[in-house]
Amino acid sequence: MDQRFLDDLFARVDIVSLVSKYVHLTKKGGNHFGLCPFHNEKTPSFSVNGEKQIFHCFGCGVGGGAVQFLMKMENLEFRDAVAQLAESVGMEVPVDGNPGESRRRDRLYDLMREAARHFHANLKRPEAAAAVEYIRRRALQPQTVTRFGLGYSMDSWDDLSRAMKAKGYTEEELLFAGLTVRGKNNSAYDRFRGRLMFPIIDVRGRVIAFGGRVLDDSLPKYLNSPDTPIFNKTQNLFGLNYAKKSKHGKLILAEGYMDVISLHQAGFDCAVASLGTSLTAEQARIISRYTDRCVISYDADEAGQKAAQRAIQIFGGAGVTVQVLRISGAKDPDEFIKKNGPEAFDELLSRSEGQTEYRLRVIRQKYDLSQDDQRVAFLREASAMLAGIPNAVERDVFAGRAAEAAGVSREAVLIEVEKRRRADQKKERAERHRADVSPVNRAQPRERELRYRDAASAMAEEGVLSLLLQRPEHIEEAKKLLSPEDFSAPPLAEIYRRVLEGQTETSQLSVSLAPEVFSLCTKLLMRELPVDELRALRDCAGRIRTERLKTGAEGTEEDPLLAFRKIKANK
Ligand code: CTP
Ligand code: MN
Repeated sequence: MDQRFLDDLFARVDIVSLVSKYVHLTKKGGNHFGLCPFHNEKTPSFSVNGEKQIFHCFGCGVGGGAVQFLMKMENLEFRDAVAQLAESVGMEVPVDGNPGESRRRDRLYDLMREAARHFHANLKRPEAAAAVEYIRRRALQPQTVTRFGLGYSMDSWDDLSRAMKAKGYTEEELLFAGLTVRGKNNSAYDRFRGRLMFPIIDVRGRVIAFGGRVLDDSLPKYLNSPDTPIFNKTQNLFGLNYAKKSKHGKLILAEGYMDVISLHQAGFDCAVASLGTSLTAEQARIISRYTDRCVISYDADEAGQKAAQRAIQIFGGAGVTVQVLRISGAKDPDEFIKKNGPEAFDELLSRSEGQTEYRLRVIRQKYDLSQDDQRVAFLREASAMLAGIPNAVERDVFAGRAAEAAGVSREAVLIEVEKRRRADQKKERAERHRADVSPVNRAQPRERELRYRDAASAMAEEGVLSLLLQRPEHIEEAKKLLSPEDFSAPPLAEIYRRVLEGQTETSQLSVSLAPEVFSLCTKLLMRELPVDELRALRDCAGRIRTERLKTGAEGTEEDPLLAFRKIKANK
């Protein structure tokens, strides 16, 4: 994208007010602090610096500028985040951009839509009789089939490929879209064969992937599209394209495609499901954009209940209030509705438990409360759970419930809970402290691919960069002491190269560096400066050179850009 436009944009956007829309920030010194929206924490380690226009989390290591924040927060592509920011400050995005890349993506969206149409049309073919019969057996009405765009993949190696090629799509595009798979002899064949097809549709109404179910008991029951440039299974939810418009005021999270469809058919148009994985933090965050209340309606089996527990915790991090629905007499919401009708499900919904109530009940079921030692164990576990509740009133109420169950006083439970809270807080502080002071931890980037192989040298390299990024006037001095080849860590050498080219503005670096590398930059920018800057620079340079001699290494042996391209290709 045009750097001049970006410079203009970054000059007008303020990261502090942007972040404030999502995170409650408190000013401390030159930085604003808050609870990191990208990982679960109780004490704020997420910081935003208005002067440098960057954010960085000392807890999880993520960092960037306004664009990177919006990308992560709203699950956007770079250009979409830029467009959104531009709109917010009344600017027009210049149209050129990278036309090749965006055309490729557009074609991918078109291909997926065409494929969905093809699968849907297949239902009319005589060879799809079994699929039609299956749909009838599962009691899916014709309107439901149309609404969800269900279809059938023919029991053939190339039915879809042939149809799509006839429409002008290439073999590469089909592979790229995950619609075909390359076989041993290098020839490609259709991924989905003889399956009932569920298109996965994003919130903007575009088909981005498919799930395909067998019509019998063979395995695997479902086959899903792999991740592609337009599909990431951890960042989408099945049914959300409709659920986001629901008037129910809450979302229902189910386990399966069939549950979602069945719920929608029964009038619960607020049902969604994750896509063949358990709920991810990204999905919880996406849900939190649409509602602050979510009802978990997983399968009644043990696996479903375990998954519900995990989901509760993930939702906690996203600020969504959770209720857990308990189904009895049926294995999942789909079966429950078939058996008992929508009214019974509605009744369940209105009775569904609050999350704390639910978790307390789960703990309680583990113990025989008529035995003294079991009561003590129950109270210990319950207190540990209650200690994690941020709201004091809620802690108080449920301490009362636990006390009642175990036949002890509420005060006794509360004392135990407070003790746990203090211990937890101390532990969290200690962990943070460890992460902050341990040299190796501090030096190692969180991104695995960026790990330093020579931590001692990398620390000194970070020292140099932290200084130069904040005090560009020392660049001339640094030039005399170090060349980029002296750096042991490719990402740091890359940053150093940019700095020597005069790129010290975050607005430039945020565009020219790979996001992972820019994230590292934000850590360096947040560091405090040494008292004697020049001396620190010389010390660090000296240490880097000594390390180089000690290891006898050549410094960066690989073209760092090449290394980053590899990282990206692997993602
Ligand atoms: N799933 C998957 N791959 C599998 C099995 C399950 O991706 N081999 C995912 C699908 O998203 C599925 C969800 O896990 O929808 C829940 O699985 P399950 O309860 O088995 O499927 P249902 O959708 O409930 O299907 P059905 O009612 O037909 O059994
Ligand atoms: Mn199921």
